[in-house]
Amino acid sequence: MPTETFEAYRLPEEHEAVREAVRAVCDAKVAPNAAEADETGEFPKASYEALRAADFHAPHIPEQYGGAGADALATAMVIEEVARACAATSLIPAVNKLGTMPLLLAGSEELKRQFLPPVASGEAMFSYCLSEPEAGSDAAAMTTRAVRDGDHWVLDGVKRWITNAGVSRYYTVFAVTEPGVGAKGISAFVVDKSDPGVSFGAPEKKLGIKGSPTREVYFDGVRIPADRIIGEPGTGFATAMRTLDHTRVTIAAQAVGIAQGALDFSAKYVTERTQFGKPVADFQGIQFMLADMAMKLEAARQLTYAAAARSERGDTDLTFFGAAAKCYASDTAMQITTDAVQLLGGYGYTRDFPVERMMRDAKITQIYEGTNQVQRIVMARQLLKAFR
Ligand code: CAA
Repeated sequence: MPTETFEAYRLPEEHEAVREAVRAVCDAKVAPNAAEADETGEFPKASYEALRAADFHAPHIPEQYGGAGADALATAMVIEEVARACAATSLIPAVNKLGTMPLLLAGSEELKRQFLPPVASGEAMFSYCLSEPEAGSDAAAMTTRAVRDGDHWVLDGVKRWITNAGVSRYYTVFAVTEPGVGAKGISAFVVDKSDPGVSFGAPEKKLGIKGSPTREVYFDGVRIPADRIIGEPGTGFATAMRTLDHTRVTIAAQAVGIAQGALDFSAKYVTERTQFGKPVADFQGIQFMLADMAMKLEAARQLTYAAAARSERGDTDLTFFGAAAKCYASDTAMQITTDAVQLLGGYGYTRDFPVERMMRDAKITQIYEGTNQVQRIVMARQLLKAFR
């Protein structure tokens, strides 16, 4: 085979350069804040500023809106590297992409020009409001209403599990504009937290990703200009799903990063920890565990990058790949972080070492942006479509 064929399987140099640059920033300025953010549950402002100074806070925003213009693979690699240091902080670039993706996919040029530049500059963050107390996996069962009133829409309802709520200035909000027709009666809107009638619930007390606030968002007669609708009325649910096709790839990347952080820490630890007169890394039982962890991690990374390439190209099989990457990488991250705790023994179970935090952080990647049960539904539907 000609050399170029093999070259195609290597990442481009500029992508590897992105990895190096993000890793340097995160080792120096994000990792040192991770334990404190986990302990206090405070949003890690210093980590945000470090990402913002290096333009890694919302790398996917296109250059014409003032952004860094990173492609889907580079964006995934940024999220992966930030997650290796601090999973909660990696939700800054991840959720900025999630919140703005509906605009990028379906928004008017005016909306994009108004709302994307402040995210690109880091003045504002952007969250995504889909889930509700009674509409989680069954997202189309939402009851938040948007009613047209002259030149305005008026929104009423409650969204739950909203990542970065309160810290973000802007919100993509999905609401029913035509009741009784299910998914086809849902529309998407941009809401500013300063719009009268927007308020937030208390921060949820979570198992992990504690430095990333998760809160309810309340819409109480929120009146917004009619042109804040994203796309045509009735297209909101499809926009929500198309968004998730792209951003499940970023959750896969987050999971890969968390797992890499746990593998790196535990592999170093076993070379230093001595029992029975030698480093525990000399025992084959430990070596087999490490080998399995590294093998599964690399498989998850390759699937994630393959999905990122499909996200960048907008391939028709992205729906399958996004779900597969998210599901596989998050299940893998859960196994690897659990094994990392095991490798550290009793020490791994304490907060004196970061692997128990990584294990707690990994758990959410199996749940948000669609549980892994939902990902299997999505994959099976795509698979069976070809045979029906
Ligand atoms: N792209 C485009 N359109 C799509 C689509 C996609 N990927 N998936 C569905 N649609 C369209 C369908 O074509 C259909 O339209 P037509 O009738 O015109 O064909 C319409 O949307 C309804 O689709 P379904 O019939 O498949 O809808 P459903 O009610 O059966 O639901 C589901 C499908 C996959 C279960 C979906 O509800 C789902 O993904 N649920 C999980 C929700 C989720 O991921 N929530 C995450 C919240 S965000 C979050 O977690 C953020 C965070 O904290 C970081």
